[in-house]
Amino acid sequence: MKEIVIINGPNLNRLGKREPEIYGSETLDDLEKQLRDHANGREIELDFFQSNSEGEIIDRIAEASDQGVSGMIINPGAFTHTSIALYDALAGAGLPCVEVHLSNIYRRESFRQKSFTAAACDGVISGLGFYGYIAAFDYLLSGSARRSR
Ligand code: DQA
Repeated sequence: MKEIVIINGPNLNRLGKREPEIYGSETLDDLEKQLRDHANGREIELDFFQSNSEGEIIDRIAEASDQGVSGMIINPGAFTHTSIALYDALAGAGLPCVEVHLSNIYRRESFRQKSFTAAACDGVISGLGFYGYIAAFDYLLSGSARRSR
């Protein structure tokens, strides 16, 4: 069975409470439910992982690589703009991967407009809210995912 790993980074466990004017009022559980509903009926396992710790996210990416999962969707949160270690983990994983941001990082503060991690992903979806995760999921299953093992 195909498996997609969905990784959410720091502070995304606070969705619904955190700056709702930017990130909306829905929670991480709501996101998981929407993706599971979307995947329903297709033979795909979804594995959700959230951590506020850079090291734990790096370990989960390496684990996904060792498991040989079909693809990853990652919202690295603020680590997007800071973490070369996360770039290395994604580049080394050799898995199809889509970076997702709920907000449009190019419309926000200048420090958010640089993504270190994007270059290790197939592509980036930014500013489409939860729909970005759905679009990333559809891409990973479309057969057009570029970075195959
Ligand atoms: C975010 C954008 C980041 O700049 C920010 O640090 C986040 C969330 C987004 O989903 O829009 O934590 O990744």
